[in-house]
Amino acid sequence: MSKKEMIIDLRNDSVTKPSIGMLEHMMLAKVGDDVLGEDPTVAELEKKVAGIFGHEAALFCPSGTMANQIAININTNPGEEMIVDRNSYIYLYEGGSTAFNSQVSMRSLEGDHGRMSPLDITENINPVDITYNRTTMIALEHTVTKGGGSLYDIDSMKQISQIAKENNIKMHLDGARVFNAIVKSGVDPTEIGSCFDTIMVCFSKGLGAPMGAALLGKKGTIARARRLRKVMGGGMRQVGYLAAAAIYALNKNIKRLDIDHKRANELANIFEDKGYIDNILAAGTNIVILSIDPKVSIHELLRDWNAKGIKALPYGKNEIRLVTHMDFNDDMLLKLRDSLV
Ligand SMILES: Cc1ncc(COP(=O)(O)O)c(C=O)c1O
Repeated sequence: MSKKEMIIDLRNDSVTKPSIGMLEHMMLAKVGDDVLGEDPTVAELEKKVAGIFGHEAALFCPSGTMANQIAININTNPGEEMIVDRNSYIYLYEGGSTAFNSQVSMRSLEGDHGRMSPLDITENINPVDITYNRTTMIALEHTVTKGGGSLYDIDSMKQISQIAKENNIKMHLDGARVFNAIVKSGVDPTEIGSCFDTIMVCFSKGLGAPMGAALLGKKGTIARARRLRKVMGGGMRQVGYLAAAAIYALNKNIKRLDIDHKRANELANIFEDKGYIDNILAAGTNIVILSIDPKVSIHELLRDWNAKGIKALPYGKNEIRLVTHMDFNDDMLLKLRDSLV
């Protein structure tokens, strides 16, 4: 493909297409009816991903949103409250589904690039009193997309987990990009796993699978989750082909996330001297958020990029988000450098 024809898609890490190796692995999968509990490849995936985080069990779900929503439903009762950061995906981008599915209110805190502090959380747990709605869940995101791919340090995570235990509150992790966090920090996944009652991990973001997420937890929790997934219409049949893609992704595509992080860093550097940039937010994982001078029209800028084969999404009023991934390579980085003024 000539440089001119090259399309550079930085809208999300969910835009990747399965590699030939992944497709071959998918074609060889042994499958069965998973609603009847007969798909061996799904069972293999669920065991494998639970084991990585030291959890007892896992459930393969069609999407990260469904896995988050099942977790909220299981960890809370109607009329209760969960604590989230105001920049979290669950708070901003799940289409009102927390209210719709679980009738739970969200107390949103102003954290540091999407990371809530243990003190702030402590101060926002409601007293156990008939006047208040009970605080029964805390959800962290790691990495935080809207924080420019920011990550919690493991000590804060452990402190928050301890606070949750002391107050009989369930801890949930939105780990759509938890493997980016693991590669960046070097923290053992079981240390992260020990901080949470439920964890959602995505296979279709940086790991490059065509779809799917898993919800992790104790055996009893996941048995309840399995029923809820069915209730929500998420029971899947010969889905081992897609579980095989996720297994391949776990085996082959975690370590390489480091390359995406390096390319995101180089990408951020390209914008350093551009007059229309007010600020660059990039925490060293695969996300770069550009704040654009309000005098410049984001939509015109994106139209101009689009004409050059560069795709990106507006992210708030004056921001553009760029996400690196498996299908973004060094040639694209060079083309970007050459074609952006
Ligand atoms: C942080 C985070 N959580 C959850 C999700 C939801 O995942 P899905 O698109 O598979 O529903 C996303 C999707 O982009 C995300 O970025």
